[in-house]
Amino acid sequence: MKILVTGGAGYIGSHTCVALIQAGFTPVIADNFSNSHPLAISRIEAITGTRPESHNCDIADPDAMREILQSHKFAAAIHFAGVKAVGRSVSEPLETYRENVAGSLSLLQSLKAGGITRLIFSSSATVYGGAEQMPIPENAQVQPTNPYGHSKAMVEQILQDLAAAEPDWGIGVLRYFNPVGAHKSGEIGEDPQGIPDNLFPYVSQVAVGRREKLQVFGDDYETPDGTGVRDYIHVMDLAEGHVAALKTCLQSDGLFAVNLGTGQGSSVLEIIKAFEATSGRSVPYEITDRRPGDVGTSYADPAKAREMIGFEAKRDLTQMCRDAWNWQQRNPTGYSNQ
Ligand code: WQD
Repeated sequence: MKILVTGGAGYIGSHTCVALIQAGFTPVIADNFSNSHPLAISRIEAITGTRPESHNCDIADPDAMREILQSHKFAAAIHFAGVKAVGRSVSEPLETYRENVAGSLSLLQSLKAGGITRLIFSSSATVYGGAEQMPIPENAQVQPTNPYGHSKAMVEQILQDLAAAEPDWGIGVLRYFNPVGAHKSGEIGEDPQGIPDNLFPYVSQVAVGRREKLQVFGDDYETPDGTGVRDYIHVMDLAEGHVAALKTCLQSDGLFAVNLGTGQGSSVLEIIKAFEATSGRSVPYEITDRRPGDVGTSYADPAKAREMIGFEAKRDLTQMCRDAWNWQQRNPTGYSNQ
């Protein structure tokens, strides 16, 4: 079965392409490489022995999408393409809404014209904003606190209205918590452009000597050690979660939304300790002020994903750190300058 994968050369997309191939699916990538590297496609081939067909195009280009959709009979689409930097979404909201909302809307119109009514959408736990209830269930209030989160919630609303108007669609909305790590081969991994926003890649770059020290954004939260607690999930668990969701969406009409997380929370200091233990390197840090917009604690209730799509994360924090470190050591500057 052929699966259209938008943003398939990106961090989550490339890992999902590996999981799709290993599950017997055939991914076809549509990516404009604005936040990904063509080398990732060769690395997917190195891991699986299969080189996915890839098209350098924008999902908001109806002609380009029509050409791809007419050249294959796709069973479904998995939609990753978009921008995900929270901070930049605050300073550049129009870019975020153009890429994430207008882009998704254009893609949906292309899929509909192409006769595809099976879709997996890459959403985010950021739609929950500052949830009070921990762990966070899927029926928690959707109350984003930044333009990135609003953009994901808007696309979720579009999908809910589409599913209500056209019952023959099968749609899976996947709310990621904190994806980290890399495929165990170290061939593919997280390759942030410039200074990493996220904790794991920053810690990894300190450990490999690319950055001097980590700023810990606040140690006065209501958490066991005062630093922020998050639900980190191995990116290969996340990728396998997409395959599980795809299988469900291929078999049933209607829309479902599930969290993809482990249900476990880890603090910033616990991540530093785990990374040092796994890499054997020290990760110097200093405590600084809180980062605006951060919440103290966020971790998933994973029960619905287990019951509905038979998914449960199985890789632990040590594996997340080990695989992140292996990727970092093998690719000190990511995909560029290879
Ligand atoms: C994790 C913890 C920080 C960096 C974001 C997006 C979310 C998703 C994942 C796209 C927090 C602390 C971080 C640093 C630090 N992205 N931290 N020093 O903010 O939970 O989620 O990325 O879908 O939408 O919101 O992840 O890795 O940025 O932060 O102390 O240099 O690490 O305060 O407690 P976050 P993160």
